[in-house]
Amino acid sequence: MITGGAGFIGSHVVRLFVNKYPECTIINLDALTYAGNLENLKDIDTKPNYHFEKVNILDVKGLEEVFDKYQVTDVIHLAAESHVDRSIVSPMDFVYTNIIGTVNLLNVARAKWGPDYSNNRFYHISTDEVYGSLGDTGLFTEKTPYDPNSPYSASKASSDHFVRAYGETYHMQTVVSNCSNNYGPYHFPEKLIPLFIHNIIQEKPLPVYGDGLYTRDWLYVKDHALAIDLVFHTGVTGETYNIGGFNEWKNIDLVKLLCKQMDQKLGREEGHSEKLITYIKDRPGHDRRYAIDASKINRELGWKPAVTFEQGLSETIDWFLNNQEWLQNVTSGNYQHYYESMYHNR
Ligand code: NAD
Ligand code: TYD
Repeated sequence: MITGGAGFIGSHVVRLFVNKYPECTIINLDALTYAGNLENLKDIDTKPNYHFEKVNILDVKGLEEVFDKYQVTDVIHLAAESHVDRSIVSPMDFVYTNIIGTVNLLNVARAKWGPDYSNNRFYHISTDEVYGSLGDTGLFTEKTPYDPNSPYSASKASSDHFVRAYGETYHMQTVVSNCSNNYGPYHFPEKLIPLFIHNIIQEKPLPVYGDGLYTRDWLYVKDHALAIDLVFHTGVTGETYNIGGFNEWKNIDLVKLLCKQMDQKLGREEGHSEKLITYIKDRPGHDRRYAIDASKINRELGWKPAVTFEQGLSETIDWFLNNQEWLQNVTSGNYQHYYESMYHNR
């Protein structure tokens, strides 16, 4: 069972697993919040090994029913509230879904699987933001102390601790990975890259927070999905794996590269989209720099990113340009009717 499979990263993980493991039953459990969009999975939703369940992880009875219905053996947990800016406005949504929802899932898994967990794995997907902010040098390793600064990262840090604690206390087969910023197709246009692609198409202002010198490490989402497959199948129980792109960009440099690539693709004169850049008031508690040391997963499991940033960004822009209907459905809210139209008879 994959939770949050209708979201950005989850949809790539569901697609990979459904196509790669036709002999396995893959259940996508998702509440379809504003971030969940079943249009992300249109290409695989009629495959016989794919099943969708609209359940909120706050609904314990609903979780129990899904575990019983499919005899769930393993969980890859991605369902979460994921946007820092929303967590600043509504922190309790993050407490409920990210902390209480994760503990609900752990409790149901424990009740259904225990006391012998040898054939069941609980894999929790987390973020590098739990480690806080770096200065100009240094990298986050798996041993970096947690130091979250936003309600989002604090809620993810808490959920990581619960997963680890259930591994230690009840001997559940838990594993955690902490990944850097993802980008790619199906990215919800509230996050930096898809929002700016959308605004460049529409020739709207590009709102850069603060001085624009904040640094993030970017990873192509399909590389993250491959890492998740690897950690799920070969990661060591009780361990944490950092996943990153070895690819640091200051926001403003990234935005300028995006403007340049988009001007070329849209046939606009060079420098046209850069004029849309608008510096705005900073995000409170804004982490200055994230950078991941992904050498452990490389050394122990043999993973490294396959796609360069220039290539991944170019593919991402092409995807958004070729899927403007998807973008329009998301920005107009129409995607929320897809579930009713596709699933009311199933
Ligand atoms: P997303 O916001 O695109 O998708 C989240 C999904 O979870 C949505 O489909 C939503 O409907 C579902 N969901 C939310 N609340 C739920 C609830 N209460 N019950 C059931 N389903 C619920 O998020 P994403 O960017 O795909 O991130 C997925 C996971 O990866 C999250 O746990 C996030 O913390 C983690 N992560 C994300 C990034 C990133 O760059 N996006 C980086 C590292 C880790
Ligand atoms: P975001 O995509 O929200 O991811 P995260 O906060 O989880 O890293 O933001 C990436 C960076 O871009 C972050 O430093 C905040 C900045 N940003 C802007 O400057 N303007 C925006 O409109 C957004 C959404 C983000």
